[in-house]
Amino acid sequence: MIPKPSVMLSSEAIAARVRELGAKITQDYKGRHLVLVSILKGSFLFAADLARAIDLEDVRIDFLGLRSYGSGTESSGVVQITHDLTFPVENKDVLIVEDIVDTGLSMQYLLDNLATRKPSSVKICSLLHKPARTRVAISIDYLGFTIEDKFVVGYGLDYAEKFRNLPYIGVIES
Ligand code: IMP
Ligand code: MG
Repeated sequence: MIPKPSVMLSSEAIAARVRELGAKITQDYKGRHLVLVSILKGSFLFAADLARAIDLEDVRIDFLGLRSYGSGTESSGVVQITHDLTFPVENKDVLIVEDIVDTGLSMQYLLDNLATRKPSSVKICSLLHKPARTRVAISIDYLGFTIEDKFVVGYGLDYAEKFRNLPYIGVIES
């Protein structure tokens, strides 16, 4: 049995930050055609909360499923699309909604892939960033929290598919 993860970011702290991010995005995208691209599975809760914190008329939501191969908790940068967007994003303002930027390899793959679809802009909103493990520098336009180099779970993030339903971001103590 894995013990219950200890709290790193409480659900209250997350909710407050999500409200701030939503307000900033609302300001920045006034009058534009925003497409939120939620990266599955990790960002499903973040995207659901963030979408409700954005007060704009023209907001579309789509999902892109990614599986990144690696050994255990290490990303390899070899990424497979498991579920593709359901509508074209050509001439749209795309905002990628991601759970965490760790090595940056998955995000780099995603940026390269989305660029081929000719959106008018692509920005990144990530709940978490773990700068200690950067392999490709990614400029995150909207960032929830910078965290130290620990493997985190909860609020969408998993360890071997478990803990996605925790309402907070936690750390598995080893
Ligand atoms: P990257 O390619 O190393 O930047 O990270 C790719 C993916 O690995 C992220 O989108 C997450 O789904 C997953 N990941 C990275 N760090 C963690 C973590 O601490 N907990 C859970 N998943 C993680
Ligand atoms: Mg992810």
